[in-house]
Amino acid sequence: MNSQRQYWETTPRKWQGEQPQRLWRQHSDAVNLALVQRWWPDEPIESVLKTDLFDEVFGEGLCPFMHSKVRTVSGIDISESIVSAARMRCPELQTAVADVRSLPFASDTFDLTISNSTLDHFEAAGDITVAVGELYRVLRPGGQLVLTLDNLCNPKIALRYALPFRLLRALSLVPYFVGSTLGPRGLCREVRQAGFQVIDTAVVMHCPRVIAVAIAGLLQRHAGYPAQQRFLRSLMAFEKLSRLPTRSFTGHFVAVRAVK
Ligand SMILES: C[S@@+](CC[C@H](N)C(=O)[O-])C[C@H]1O[C@@H](n2cnc3c(N)ncnc32)[C@H](O)[C@@H]1O
Repeated sequence: MNSQRQYWETTPRKWQGEQPQRLWRQHSDAVNLALVQRWWPDEPIESVLKTDLFDEVFGEGLCPFMHSKVRTVSGIDISESIVSAARMRCPELQTAVADVRSLPFASDTFDLTISNSTLDHFEAAGDITVAVGELYRVLRPGGQLVLTLDNLCNPKIALRYALPFRLLRALSLVPYFVGSTLGPRGLCREVRQAGFQVIDTAVVMHCPRVIAVAIAGLLQRHAGYPAQQRFLRSLMAFEKLSRLPTRSFTGHFVAVRAVK
């Protein structure tokens, strides 16, 4: 566990100066925001927990939206440098350096927990079960969970998981360590086993990611604001694929909305 903490302490630090994926992170934020807006609970709620703060450091993240909706927004991350950078950007955020597999909160604390692609960075598949159990514990009865993971049914991701991480890094196919993950069925099974009731599922981020990240990097350096905005709009147009029966094969993330 300590080596993972160390990894997430040093890896994002390399990005913090130059922000090489600034434009791409805007698309990532837009996809996450659209999902969270769609699945935000209908009844008024007071507290929300976000399980990593990477998005809040390398883009706008979900902080402005969450703060427009609830009084208390809490966020954790295993990386101390990510937590302190997030606190600088969102001073009203209540933060803790913590591992999502062992949360420093009492049971039945939160009305909503948002976990965007945090649980797909563990080496051991069983750690997803441990983390989902923790997310269940800290939600109050009736509280809701919005959880996304890399989608194992997408053939590109299945191939990525079959290849050694060193090779993926050498080919620049992944920016950081990626671990075990699940497809839509596996994710539903996992949250049900923890005690949740599944309300909804989705598959999101349908643009060809490797190409899109590369183009975003080029446009960030060489294009003006209007061209960058046109590019972001074209990436969002791919989200129409989420309405097709083929969505499980094209989407990068599988998402579940569940209630305790
Ligand atoms: C690559 S990012 C997450 C991606 C981002 N949320 C997104 O949707 O693209 C992984 C983040 O999770 C954090 N993290 C990794 N393992 C963690 C753990 N066990 N508990 C809490 N945070 C963790 C890392 O420090 C990093 O900020």
